Amino acid sequence: MAFDIPLFDLNFDDHEVDAVAETVRSKWISMGQRTVELEERFAARLGVKHVIAVTNCTAALHMACVLAGLGPEDEVIVPSLTFVATANAVRYTGARPVFADIISARNLSLDPDDVQRKITQRTRAILPMHYGGWPCPMERFAQIADEHRLVIIEDAAHTIDVDYHGRKLGTWGKFGCYSFFSNKVITSAEGGLLATDDDQLAARAKLIRSHGMTTLSYQRAQGHATRYDVVEPGYNYRIDDIRASLALAQETKLDGILARRKELRAVYEKALGDVDGITVPYMGMTENSANYIMPIVIDSGGEARRDAIRQYLADHGIQTSVHYPAIHRFSIYAGTHHLPTTDYVADHLITLPMYDSLTEEQVGRVADTLQGALAKHN
Ligand SMILES: Cc1ncc(COP(=O)(O)O)c(C=O)c1O
Repeated sequence: MAFDIPLFDLNFDDHEVDAVAETVRSKWISMGQRTVELEERFAARLGVKHVIAVTNCTAALHMACVLAGLGPEDEVIVPSLTFVATANAVRYTGARPVFADIISARNLSLDPDDVQRKITQRTRAILPMHYGGWPCPMERFAQIADEHRLVIIEDAAHTIDVDYHGRKLGTWGKFGCYSFFSNKVITSAEGGLLATDDDQLAARAKLIRSHGMTTLSYQRAQGHATRYDVVEPGYNYRIDDIRASLALAQETKLDGILARRKELRAVYEKALGDVDGITVPYMGMTENSANYIMPIVIDSGGEARRDAIRQYLADHGIQTSVHYPAIHRFSIYAGTHHLPTTDYVADHLITLPMYDSLTEEQVGRVADTLQGALAKHN
């Protein structure tokens, strides 16, 4: 079904097409100089010593978990209101994700108080996710991590180049993991970054990105190396230069995209401010955000009413989504979990359209149609 107002739209034009064409014509299409350029550009943007570009954010999360030394017997505290990759990456190492609640319907970030309650002798790491591009309370997490000697791995898939109290989101913890998946703020179709300030961990990250091999095909092709050793069982988590050139083209638009999303967020806040029966998470929050998505939480009625409202919006040409079905309710994570706020929000959440080419008029139409839906299904 084609929607008049889709949930998301790409900001792609000849700039991206030319960037890819140039890389294809160069005949070096796998990981090479474009990737190095991408890493350098984002290291500078994020103010971090090392950026390692990878196939996707899930790979970055997995590598962070491996580099943090996680294994069977270990526990990692994660949110449940996130994409399943946040928890799956922990599982790949044999460690157990332990779900903590979010703060409230107004602030969907991982709740530091609940994190504290869920710390045990086995806890090794905390994995906060910056929901929608809004900052988790990183000072609190840093303090908790310090006290209990835990590693912080930030799932920064929703954010890119967002300043929070003088540091970029994704550079507060030992590791930050970013996504360039096709519906993200900027994209290379699939792609991701691992950021860290630690020299040794960065060196090891480069090894495990490519089978634990001590030299890369690019270095060998350039005559910089003729042989390689394998020092640990790594993975193939390499990005390629076609995607890196896409990400580089997108990077040149990033400031404009973030500025436009901020404007649209303000238009949404104005349009939704007087709508009865909903909570707009992060309403009036003065911290910076990437404004990756535009969530609302209906006040009552549960999943059935939420789905009826979404259907009404779809019938009127507006695509919506739910970020996210709570992970702890999926079959593979079934068990006893006490996450009342996550449970409530997951049943009442609707994600409205958000992308930089959305117009003020379209935001107005989304808000009006939402009012109609709330009135019809009251
Ligand atoms: C919060 C969150 N974490 C992790 C991921 C995984 O990212 P990727 O698709 O790049 O592996 C996503 C992407 O959809 C996400 O939204």
